[in-house]
Amino acid sequence: MSLSRVSRTLPRVARLARGYACTSGLTANTAYTAVTHPDNSAPEATQELIKEHSSYLLNTYARPQILFTKGKGANLTDSAGREYLDFSAGIAVTALGHSDAQLNAVQAAQAEKLSHVSNVYWNEHAGALAKDLVEGTRAAGGLGLAKSGGPGAKVFFSNSGTEANEGALKFARKYGKDVGGENKTGIVCFTNAFHGRSMGALSCTPNPKYQAPFAPLIPNVRVGEYNNADAAVIAELVNENTCGVIIEPVQGEGGVGTASVEFLTALAKRCREVNAVLIYDEIQCGLFRTGTMWAHSELPVEAQPDVVTMAKPLANGFPIGAILVRENVADVIGVGAHGTTFGGQPLACALGRHVLGRISAPEFGAHLADSAAHLDTLIARLPKLFPQFIKEETRGRGLIRGIPFKNEKQPGEVVRMARERGVLLLTAGSDAVRLIPPLTITKEQCDQAVAVIESVLTVMDKEGKW
Ligand SMILES: Cc1ncc(COP(=O)(O)O)c(C=O)c1O
Repeated sequence: MSLSRVSRTLPRVARLARGYACTSGLTANTAYTAVTHPDNSAPEATQELIKEHSSYLLNTYARPQILFTKGKGANLTDSAGREYLDFSAGIAVTALGHSDAQLNAVQAAQAEKLSHVSNVYWNEHAGALAKDLVEGTRAAGGLGLAKSGGPGAKVFFSNSGTEANEGALKFARKYGKDVGGENKTGIVCFTNAFHGRSMGALSCTPNPKYQAPFAPLIPNVRVGEYNNADAAVIAELVNENTCGVIIEPVQGEGGVGTASVEFLTALAKRCREVNAVLIYDEIQCGLFRTGTMWAHSELPVEAQPDVVTMAKPLANGFPIGAILVRENVADVIGVGAHGTTFGGQPLACALGRHVLGRISAPEFGAHLADSAAHLDTLIARLPKLFPQFIKEETRGRGLIRGIPFKNEKQPGEVVRMARERGVLLLTAGSDAVRLIPPLTITKEQCDQAVAVIESVLTVMDKEGKW
């Protein structure tokens, strides 16, 4: 489309992105319209290395020719010495930012002392981290735990989010068979969910692109409509043969959809009616990303789950996952019911204790809330500035936010163009750009990221990419 044709067809509000007078008084930031970090301009040595490595690595990712060599806080540096602002945090992992000095010290000290010992023995950190998770959850009002009394919940440590979900699904199967017999094996998941790529977790990730090549998947999995709170629909979906229901209270990969309180309450009520285990996958949205320890922390107690799965930020990038289970489910998981070689090892758990301690501190929460509120104000402008691109209000809350686009090609284009201007973003689902920065992000860094997004959308507008 030619530029003159674009300007004739642009709606009035859109024109302000191109410097036209605007009655609303909003003007898009155009400080970052120039390309400063072109993709595929890596130094020759890097290009050669990538070529060599790509002949040894399975090519499951479409990567640009960028090789990161170091990171500090919210910044990453590539092999050409170019600095990027990492608004993806390694996909919601590096809550404390990259190469955190205190965490590095904990890692070095624990590695010096003891990195790994098998689950055949006790170690000093696994139980302590489990206690921190249970007591932190109780204090935050999560998992329907009583404010006082015994632990009320237990933890199993895994090495990733997928493994945590896989374990949670197994626990639900075991619970179902124990309380309801051989036929109580049904699992329910929801549209746009992402729970992982192993057979069980993949079976609950109803995306044909991920599932089709690996079918047949595990049997007895049904897919419900996310946020359909109709009691009759839920009653049909979750029945006497259902052993477990798995859902993300805020979806990550699927497009940053947020489950309504009404929907989660109706779902939890039905789970209790038929004695099915309710699993909240908080692998992406949990551990303070929404501002509270869990995305479900502030839900009414009747909407709270039996099981919570977590992973990503728990050790700030060192592999760890965990399944937090309420006593009713914990009671059916005895010796030999599940296992792992690495899960719960002292190094990962020492790091988990440090991260959890830092991100649960009130002053950390205050900083996070401040930055999140600032980011919210910044991105609230976008649908008004660029109605030709953005189809509705932004999604998510806290520091997991989605910008929904009208055209499915646009999110990928925004991510690419932002990267070429030094800011790393992600897409989510079929229609969104996702912002999941480190939880330590500052207001100034939010300003920079959103200025880049506004500059990119201005360029896209000028180029008629809509
Ligand atoms: C909500 C959710 N569940 C599960 C997973 C899988 O976790 P992992 O990649 O650590 O196996 C992810 C990863 O993105 C996720 O976002």
